[in-house]
Amino acid sequence: MQATIGACKLELVTGDIIRQATDAIVNAANSRLAGGGGVDGAIHRGGGPSIMEETRRHYPQGCPTGDAVVTGSGKLPARCVIHTVGPVWEGGQNQEKSLLASAYRRSLEVAGAQQCASIAFPSLSTGAYAYPLQQAARIALHTVATYLRLHGRPDMVRFVLFDDRTYEAYADALAATLSE
Ligand code: APR
Repeated sequence: MQATIGACKLELVTGDIIRQATDAIVNAANSRLAGGGGVDGAIHRGGGPSIMEETRRHYPQGCPTGDAVVTGSGKLPARCVIHTVGPVWEGGQNQEKSLLASAYRRSLEVAGAQQCASIAFPSLSTGAYAYPLQQAARIALHTVATYLRLHGRPDMVRFVLFDDRTYEAYADALAATLSE
């Protein structure tokens, strides 16, 4: 599924984030930048040890929830990896919504600072962090669409969704966002 927002393209695909040849790919990291499973495991496995070496060297304090930092991409086809930290779902009373929106927004800001024209996101927080999928998809699409309307860049944002259930949730959320 595709949409245009001004001159920007917004795409939804199913697939694997580590195969994306966009300027940036986004990692669903934890605040210690310690590596993990899911997207995080795939990126470090696929990219090789240079990514972790760089996070340890440049961000020894880690990255707060809702913020984002950048490293190179090791052996991956993308030019850089933006590590962002989505919130752990704790029932919705702990700023989860604004922290998730912030993770998307900060990733886009960091991509802009790196002159990235294209960026690929996974579905932040909806795996190990257990954010309810439908709600997370609405926040993701609304936040990205608002950013693109406001800033007119990057040229292309792609959501790379791992399974059909996640894709369907994002497709519904994109339709809802476009009709806002
Ligand atoms: N490409 C795209 N999507 C993927 C991939 C992949 N290679 N692997 C997993 N996914 C999907 C999951 O199916 C889920 O829909 O990405 C979504 C996010 O899942 P997680 O990777 O578990 O991310 P998150 O919920 O944000 O949890 C982050 O998990 O791996 C740890 O270190 C990480 O502590 C952090 C936490």
